[in-house]
Amino acid sequence: MFYIYLFNFSLSLPPQTKFETKKMKKTIFITGGAGFIGSHVVRLFVKKYADYRIINIDKLTYAGNLANLKDIEKAPNYIFEKADIVNVEQIKNLFVKYNPDGVIHLAAESHVDRSISNPTEFIFTNIVGTVNLLNAARSCWKDNYEGKRFYHISTDEVYGSLGEEGFFTENTAYDPRSPYSASKASSDHLVRAYNHTFGLPAVISNCSNNYGPNHFPEKLIPLAINNIKNMKSIPIYGKGENVRDWLYVIDHARAIDVIFHNGRDGETYNIGGNNEWTNIDLIRKLCEVMDNKLNREPGTSASLITFVQDRAGHDLRYAIDSTKLMKELGWKPSLQFEEGLEKTVDWYLNNVEWLNNIVSGDYKKYYEGMYGDKAK
Ligand code: NAD
Ligand code: DAU
Repeated sequence: MFYIYLFNFSLSLPPQTKFETKKMKKTIFITGGAGFIGSHVVRLFVKKYADYRIINIDKLTYAGNLANLKDIEKAPNYIFEKADIVNVEQIKNLFVKYNPDGVIHLAAESHVDRSISNPTEFIFTNIVGTVNLLNAARSCWKDNYEGKRFYHISTDEVYGSLGEEGFFTENTAYDPRSPYSASKASSDHLVRAYNHTFGLPAVISNCSNNYGPNHFPEKLIPLAINNIKNMKSIPIYGKGENVRDWLYVIDHARAIDVIFHNGRDGETYNIGGNNEWTNIDLIRKLCEVMDNKLNREPGTSASLITFVQDRAGHDLRYAIDSTKLMKELGWKPSLQFEEGLEKTVDWYLNNVEWLNNIVSGDYKKYYEGMYGDKAK
């Protein structure tokens, strides 16, 4: 009798969706989860928080790539939604469908050079897209903010450019100087305004330059790795004297995890690697690593270095003071730069298909438009 009941019961059940079997503790939206940093954040959350439902919302622009998430795409606590944050209806519907507890907002146009050739796209995605998410969060949460959080991921570029001395702190005045950084600064101000005016529980972090696996090869390090691999020129803007503070992407994802869970509402946290390099020294170091990995004569890769016309309005130096994050939330970078760079090079050399799929597509047109004959 008991068996018959069980049998009937199982027959009468409607087909189960991925999430009906277990009550999830939290539902988190991660926007831009198919991009470079977003994919590392999605992976960390999916793996670390089996009882969270992680919804990756991404438009899949040229920079979004679901291949970044192949290893976790079938995880029971992960779901992908293709949507455009600029599209009010699409975003509203997703909030109604999932009723999220938190939003970790990474979706953006992220490349400074593209913001110089096409600023408007940056205004739509980075500013209007952020406002759409803020509005949708407000109307979904209906001013009942218990257990809710809107976390906006931003950049150190909002603070402008440093001279040879000093660091950006959370109190440094905003001074964005490219269309990209101006659009990010604007979105930061809007997040703060929604926190102040409407009480929306929001937190912001501003991070320095990331590097590591899955970095789109329009950015300096992966572009150079690809060119060195193929014995093509490495384009260095100006004299290569500009300084960036590099952080391994997984350390950024770890910081996002602690800030999302333990950061204070209304606060800003700076995240940096305490790892400053001039572009030319960084590329020389990378060339050494590549010569070694590819069994080339020392100096072979460095011979590809080519100085090209400088980026318009090129910020001289970024350097982050992460004391607040380290003291308040106990975060610190886990990797030394040399180790991170080796891991990164190994990843690119072992993931030829990932790289070739990108560089064989529209990237070719972008590269020729950007660098012309100067870096063939
Ligand atoms: P990325 O360009 O690699 O990825 C951006 C992702 O956003 C892509 O998957 C893309 O498809 C998606 N996206 C773009 N427009 C969208 C839209 N309208 N709707 C939905 N999805 C859209 O960028 P990244 O380097 O991973 O940067 C992620 C975030 O971190 C950005 O907000 C960026 O400003 C910030 N940030 C980046 C760095 C860095 O060094 N890369 C440093 C500090 C902060
Ligand atoms: O500081 C954080 C920012 O870092 C993020 O907000 C941005 O999304 C991210 O793209 C990055 O911006 P940068 O402009 O610093 O990164 P990029 O890799 O484009 O350039 C790094 C440095 O290298 C910069 O000084 C410009 C220079 N460069 C870049 C490219 C692509 C070259 O010399 N040659 C190149 O071909």
